Amino acid sequence: MDIDKLKSDASGQIGAAKDLDELNQAAVKWLGRKGALSEFMRRIPELEPDLRREAGQKLNALKKELEALLEEARERISGSAQARDEGLDISLPGRPVAAGSIHPINQVMEEICDIFVQMGFDVVEGPEVELDWYNFEALNFPPDHPARDMQDTFFISGDVVLRTHTSSLQIRTMENTPPPVKVIAPGKVYRCDSDVTHTPMFHQVEGLLVGDGISFADLKGALTLFVQKMYGPNTPIRLRPSFFPFTEPSAEVDIGCVICRGSGCRVCSGTGWLEVLGSGMVHPNVFKNVGYDSSLITGFAFGLGVERIAMLKYGVDDLRRFFENDLRFLSQF
Ligand code: PHE
Repeated sequence: MDIDKLKSDASGQIGAAKDLDELNQAAVKWLGRKGALSEFMRRIPELEPDLRREAGQKLNALKKELEALLEEARERISGSAQARDEGLDISLPGRPVAAGSIHPINQVMEEICDIFVQMGFDVVEGPEVELDWYNFEALNFPPDHPARDMQDTFFISGDVVLRTHTSSLQIRTMENTPPPVKVIAPGKVYRCDSDVTHTPMFHQVEGLLVGDGISFADLKGALTLFVQKMYGPNTPIRLRPSFFPFTEPSAEVDIGCVICRGSGCRVCSGTGWLEVLGSGMVHPNVFKNVGYDSSLITGFAFGLGVERIAMLKYGVDDLRRFFENDLRFLSQF
């Protein structure tokens, strides 16, 4: 009487049943009145007297076990039958969950910040809703300066504006820290302007380095290094005299066109150069407004437009694409 073999044959067949018919056949064969288990039970009296008791216990335990297996198999089979009835195919592979990603403008902004962080700059941030003092007044904008005009600035109320540039962070930083300072300030800025190359909201990264003996050559050196890391070691830069109320002297910085590499194309309007940022040496009036002594220290500042850098990097010709939230566009980055 091989009880172990009975156990493995019976549980194997029950486990393999694919539908209720097969399962019922297995139930009759192993557990039915004329089934294998009953047959074994009937033969117990034929055993030696001292083996009968043990065999009886074993067979009873096996019976319980096989009944549990039958129940389990019944649930399994009716479960998948139900899934089929509901039009579910549980053998289909799962649908992948679409993963989001970082917006291309934020990617480029992070890349810009990384380059300056490697040069030892700290990252600072500030409010987008800003006081006139930080956005204009302390930056040496005369009261009648055209940048304060309704045309450019979103006014919230009398002296509260949406910041028009990240230069407000120059003031907020110096106001709270004695020199030296070496910071960059990434963030959103707002101007009442909208066309192919302007959106009412865009991003800037401001840079400010103030200390003992900082010169225009340091400004040029830092920006050259930045441009070469961003666009490759052979990208030239050029500085053109410019004007900002908060820097003197001021310079607009161009890079050699990254599309045509200087020979002239549509993107650079045939000049071979692209304007990417504004910069200059911090104006003494700005130092005075934050309580710095301009006879002891000097500094440079720059502000670059992130969208401009991103458009050049990816060859995108309409700035508005970045903010239309069309996934066919955004998921390419
Ligand atoms: N804030 C200026 C702008 O938005 C850029 C700038 C920053 C220029 C720092 C000089 C120094 O146009």
